[in-house]
Amino acid sequence: TKDLLSISDLSPDDIGRLLSDAVELKARGWNNSLSGKTLALVFEKPSLRTRVSFELAMKQMDGEALYLSPAEVGLGKREPVADVARVLSRFVDVIACRTFGHETLVQLAKYADIPVINALSDLEHPCQALADILTIYEKKGDLKGLSLAYIGDGNNCANSLLLACAMTGINCRLASPKGYLVDKDLFARAEAYAEDSGAELYSGTDLKTALRGADVIYTDVWTSMGQEAETEKRLKDFTGFQVNAKLVSMAKKDAIIMHPLPAHYGEEVDREILECPQSVIFDQAENRLHAQKAVLRDMLGGLEIGGRH
Ligand code: CP
Repeated sequence: TKDLLSISDLSPDDIGRLLSDAVELKARGWNNSLSGKTLALVFEKPSLRTRVSFELAMKQMDGEALYLSPAEVGLGKREPVADVARVLSRFVDVIACRTFGHETLVQLAKYADIPVINALSDLEHPCQALADILTIYEKKGDLKGLSLAYIGDGNNCANSLLLACAMTGINCRLASPKGYLVDKDLFARAEAYAEDSGAELYSGTDLKTALRGADVIYTDVWTSMGQEAETEKRLKDFTGFQVNAKLVSMAKKDAIIMHPLPAHYGEEVDREILECPQSVIFDQAENRLHAQKAVLRDMLGGLEIGGRH
């Protein structure tokens, strides 16, 4: 497929190749493999990491990025998604889109002649998952047989992370309150990958099952963008699921702690936990740049002539 809407648009081999490419690109820095190429960033929601890392990924590979704000584009409001897709296809080489509904991305990809990258939808966050796996690889080495405990909401990040773990052989155990577990069909899709990779998967309410023997503890916000009206109920429902010293003590002593950011300190995570030496959250944020460089070069890369640095 030309698009990256779900992490499962990539095969396990693709993920392996992109990880090696990301390691290489991280070591090399600036290069000119995207000379003359332009990325359009069509964002319906705010962003720090995703926007900055995509813009810099293009710049550092000698390409260009255009940020198109929600007010300017009015995706599906000012004009149909299909028309936005066909207009942008005449001007740029790739679109990264952050949207509320995943269906908008599907429509964009259907009508665009150029690749469309999911920069976060209600269903998935594949670029985050690639950066997460890259970070785990850097910190822990061989991925197969590692155990990751995901504590919290079975949201878009959890969906992509679960699939990515299942594809790369990382045991992924998700503990969420009743009513907030990852989608059953998505879990079944992950299990199909796990049969090949040997990963063990769990999705349930039991924190001990998730955390026992974990090499990685991962959490994310309890209230995503667009769910603000549910905040009060969610705070109540997620009682006991805050990643704090007590929960961390249930995992391996050298477990790393991950969060895609932005964090809601005092809700899904205790501030001290993200400030402790085991926290790798800023490496994780930086790796968005390197993982996305690998994706963009894979989609668009031309012949490289020398390096800029
Ligand atoms: N983690 C992440 O996607 O961050 P932003 O929302 O700031 O892009």
